[in-house]
Amino acid sequence: MKIVTNASEMKNLSITYGKAGRSLGLVPTMGALHDGHVSLITTAREHCDIVVTSIFVNPLQFAPSEDFAKYPRPFDKDCATAEKAGCDVVFAPDAKEMYPTGYSTFVDVETITSYLCGANRPGHFKGVATVVLKLFNVVSPQVAVFGQKDAQQCLVIRRMVRDLNCSVRLVFAPTVREKDGLAMSSRNSYLSSDERGQAVFIYKGICAAVSLYGGGERNGAALQGTIAGALSGAPLLSVEYVEIVDMDTVSPVSVLGAPALAAIAVRTKQTKTRLIDNAVLGGTF
Ligand code: PAJ
Repeated sequence: MKIVTNASEMKNLSITYGKAGRSLGLVPTMGALHDGHVSLITTAREHCDIVVTSIFVNPLQFAPSEDFAKYPRPFDKDCATAEKAGCDVVFAPDAKEMYPTGYSTFVDVETITSYLCGANRPGHFKGVATVVLKLFNVVSPQVAVFGQKDAQQCLVIRRMVRDLNCSVRLVFAPTVREKDGLAMSSRNSYLSSDERGQAVFIYKGICAAVSLYGGGERNGAALQGTIAGALSGAPLLSVEYVEIVDMDTVSPVSVLGAPALAAIAVRTKQTKTRLIDNAVLGGTF
């Protein structure tokens, strides 16, 4: 497996693969790889000849108050994990390589970023869209794989790809969970053991909504209420949002007539860890 840190070198490598008729798949990550990331690499493998995994803790998508400095960076372990999963190239630029002095261009996907995580993390999706477009331009992949765990991120990238005519096919892979249902996340390592015990209530909330929907409930407030009810069993989780939203506009839905996203964000009370999860009710991405 190759490790590339320089953007021009990565671009040249992609051109070489392209000339040899080999298709490229990109899996953008911030590292601290777990089985969720591994499943994206496996999925990319199924679609392409060459899999590039980017590892870059993107400063642009963290607010000053957030966990950029303490975000885990086990680089050697990540490379071993990526290689074992079938990755061909790790692209791991540093911040100077991605944002050299004088950097001034940003991608702002409007409207759908005013809800959910976008409302609670101002500027976050501008950072995500900007870095993802840069990665698309450096790697020129035919396919890029993202995880449904970050549902709004999928919808933002999809909007950007449509709006800016990006030549990449997007694949959204299902959420990989721990045995008890907690969605895998690099941030789960921040949790205290009591918080980890209660974090399963997020999944219980998701399951309650899926089951109520399955029983025929189409009222957004009722579905929202059942999730909130489940979360109330976990005193160490403080709810940031529980929403039932439209899959295209990301705005709240009062009566479901089309597939909708049930989305949850909580912050834990002891370690202030932010956790998100979701399920699509009545459809897929
Ligand atoms: P990161 O949080 O490292 O996630 C990288 C990719 O892994 C994202 O597409 C995310 O949705 C996916 N992922 C995370 N947990 C998952 C799980 N439990 N199951 C399946 N997929 C999962 O998301 C980012 O990094 C960044 O915002 C990035 C897109 C790399 C831009 O900086």
